[in-house]
Amino acid sequence: MKIQLASKHVPGTAIILPIFSGSKPVWPKEISTESKKFIETALKFFDGSEKSAKVLRIPDEKNVLTVVLLGLGDKKSWTRRKFLLAVRRIVGVAKAEKIKEIGFNLKDLAARVADDEAVKLMAINLIKANYEFNKYKEVPKEGWPKIENIYTSVSKANKKLERALEEGIIIGEEVNRSRDLANTPGGDMTPKVLADDAVNSGKRAGFSVKVLEEKEIERLGMGGVIGVSKGSSEKPRFIITEYFGGKKKDAPIVFVGKGVTFDTGGINLKPGDSSYEMHLDMTGGGSAIHAVAAIARLKLKVNVVALVPAVENMPSGSSYHPGDQLKTITGKTIEVLNTDAEGRVILADGLGYAQKYKPSLIIDVATLTGSAIGALGQRAMAVFTKDNKLQKMVLELGERTGERGWPLPLWDEYLDEIKGTFGDVANIGKTRYGGAIHGAIFLKQFVGSYPWVHLDIAPTMTTIDGEYLAKGASGTAVQLLVELARKLAH
Ligand code: BES
Ligand code: ZN
Ligand code: ZN
Repeated sequence: MKIQLASKHVPGTAIILPIFSGSKPVWPKEISTESKKFIETALKFFDGSEKSAKVLRIPDEKNVLTVVLLGLGDKKSWTRRKFLLAVRRIVGVAKAEKIKEIGFNLKDLAARVADDEAVKLMAINLIKANYEFNKYKEVPKEGWPKIENIYTSVSKANKKLERALEEGIIIGEEVNRSRDLANTPGGDMTPKVLADDAVNSGKRAGFSVKVLEEKEIERLGMGGVIGVSKGSSEKPRFIITEYFGGKKKDAPIVFVGKGVTFDTGGINLKPGDSSYEMHLDMTGGGSAIHAVAAIARLKLKVNVVALVPAVENMPSGSSYHPGDQLKTITGKTIEVLNTDAEGRVILADGLGYAQKYKPSLIIDVATLTGSAIGALGQRAMAVFTKDNKLQKMVLELGERTGERGWPLPLWDEYLDEIKGTFGDVANIGKTRYGGAIHGAIFLKQFVGSYPWVHLDIAPTMTTIDGEYLAKGASGTAVQLLVELARKLAH
């Protein structure tokens, strides 16, 4: 799929005609009087309600002109979010109807979003919507439906808009690469495979990658990573990616991503079908790596690091046990009360390692708790931080990118919940209530005094109906991390 800016309708391409309910369309100049008449008749039976769409095929002299009526609902309640959903819907309709070339006027759709921002968001969402994970399916005889060209007409294509388009394409591509990693089944996605992807991404996008293996992880004192990995025949990795595009003396932003390539729960084995989607438990790690890849490709003037402790959580004769005391890189011990709360155990070492950089900000991304899903549903990630300015920034960027977050508290009183009996911190709370907060307050014990945000992305790990994205991994948080880095760059 190639996305291009155009100044007018390109002959032979399908025209997307956005229609607000009760409003007339903005007619592209290129539509002939006869075609217009045809469309006007069709519009008598199309009310433009939100989510509706109708495809018209109009015999137009030699060719057939394809017009897609895209219902947008009430104009007054048009929002940025509805704009990006409508963009995704265009791809859905085109694929379903096997339309290969499409064109639309961005202004009709974007409404109040500034031109360059609209172009960027459009590109990201076209690319996200075009994504499918078909690697494990037989290719149909006629091939997968494919959109060849998308022409977006803007009033005046200039350097700024071209750059916005380029940026959107880069970000969209890296979001999809993160989805590829997460969607890969647990049997094929191991800590080594995740590390290999980081190495290849580094070569491709221009950032440095170091992969620590078991011996080195042990030597550094990362007892959390070693402990969780023990039950699996797949050896752990600790992935370090660095992109220094800022000034030498600038303290970096460090992303720490949970890289559990499969979470069975370990000895506290997950019941029933609870492990069904647990190959997605490295989503945070994949998103952190591909956020750095996007930042490097965008050449942002900022120093960023992504750290990904990567393990598989398996039950076996060599597994870590409930009751084990694991010594982390910070010297603090973790009292393991439940082997299924493994994400925080490996992140403790990731966060401890992050402190070596004397970072300006640590931000961890983790599919940490089912409790966060219980609290927020699947439409927002949980945001934890003690820093009000950072919180505001994350929530605002969530709105801008469409990757929404919502805050949960971090009051010190919650600490009582995770006091260890024989070790320093217990890896689960004393009660069943507020599990996402227990996870967050646990992590807080390992960040020292550095500014820190914890994103529990379990809620947004998968796509949901009505988002117009392929089933499976959503690639959550890539956009948010990129925009956060941009905001904090020079
Ligand atoms: N990876 C899970 C959390 C999860 C669940 C993510 C569902 C996405 C969808 C995590 O490791 C886990 O098992 N958490 C437990 C913690 C509990 C044992 C304290 C949970 O949330 O139930
Ligand atoms: Zn778990
Ligand atoms: Zn997990």
